[in-house]
Amino acid sequence: MLSLDVRIPKKEYKIYLQNGLYNCMGELLEGFVKNKKVCVVSDTNVFPLYGNVVEEAVKEAGGDVFSLAVKAGEEAKSFENLEYLCREIIRSNFTRSDVIIALGGGVVGDLTAFCASVVLRGVTLIQMPTTLLSQVDSSVGGKTAVNIPEGKNLVGTFYQPKAVFIDTKTLETLPEREVACGMAEVIKYGAIRDNSLAQKLLTGEYEIGEVIKTCCSIKAGIVENDELDKGERMLLNFGHTLGHAVENYTGYGTYSHGAAVAIGMCAITKWSENKGITKKGTYNTIKLLCEKYNLPTQIENLDKMTGAAMHDKKRSGNKISIVLIKQMGESYYEKVDVSLLNEIAREV
Ligand SMILES: NC(=O)c1ccc[n+]([C@@H]2O[C@H](COP(=O)([O-])OP(=O)(O)OC[C@H]3O[C@@H](n4cnc5c(N)ncnc54)[C@H](O)[C@@H]3O)[C@@H](O)[C@H]2O)c1
Repeated sequence: MLSLDVRIPKKEYKIYLQNGLYNCMGELLEGFVKNKKVCVVSDTNVFPLYGNVVEEAVKEAGGDVFSLAVKAGEEAKSFENLEYLCREIIRSNFTRSDVIIALGGGVVGDLTAFCASVVLRGVTLIQMPTTLLSQVDSSVGGKTAVNIPEGKNLVGTFYQPKAVFIDTKTLETLPEREVACGMAEVIKYGAIRDNSLAQKLLTGEYEIGEVIKTCCSIKAGIVENDELDKGERMLLNFGHTLGHAVENYTGYGTYSHGAAVAIGMCAITKWSENKGITKKGTYNTIKLLCEKYNLPTQIENLDKMTGAAMHDKKRSGNKISIVLIKQMGESYYEKVDVSLLNEIAREV
């Protein structure tokens, strides 16, 4: 089994990673769930696939388990579901020493983590991510959220889990579109921090567990330095500002989040390479990677979409942070005037 430490002062935790982990994690879980009430929160796609094996593991570890499932899909990240989970959990006579497990993708992870951070003013949370995106990104780092009509992820907390259990076998049932979505974030890590990861992705010669571990360790390192997203954590937004504009303009769901991020990464790198900011050839590498992993690399009318960036959480006044790549594996962020996004979109 691979394991990795996230060293946020006073909130340290481990990420455990193995193919088939759910079938052999009973002993590991003991330290977290023995003699505790344990609520597994999942969604209507994931629970039928993995609910049973996780419940059995919790029982084997001495926990008193019950489960709740929300309807699968981004709409599940709602105040209604937050209230539903809190009320069901309280009705089960939950106490502050009991445990909540988030079993699912980033939607279940964000919603459940929000619930764990506020119910009884905070109870133990364990993340069990089942999508590639949640295994390489959202289950680590402690951002929680629900969506409101005014925008995605605009209400939430920072709340670190006590452990992350990644069973890569769950990826075997993941639909292709979701695999591609996760690969966009993997490509992002290669671009911002790790050229050797990018090269492995280009050749296709890698083991997915190793790739996930590499991504988690990059994310852990960044979050350890900037838990509350005031600086370095911005780097994780490479391609995301233009990506959000694409999602927002085309209507959420038309392009998957990963597809929109891929378009964003390609657009900003094409622009920065033209400006001499980025080493020649970098745009081509990112484009090749996106193509290889079934992600789009451009979109018509990008310049009509950038108005949506006005609602971006990362905006302050007329300034917005953008992430730029110097060369594959090396990135930085800077505050620019929001109008620069229009210029970028017009020029690519
Ligand atoms: N907290 C963070 O730091 C952070 C970072 C990135 C993204 N996010 C959030 O993550 C969410 C997206 O997460 P996601 O891409 O995992 O989407 P998701 O949770 O909606 O999962 C995608 C789909 O796959 C299904 N699914 C999940 N695991 C499966 C499996 N193993 N087999 C078959 N089907 C499975 C789900 O039911 C869903 O239909 C967004 O809401 C985004 O805002 C959060």
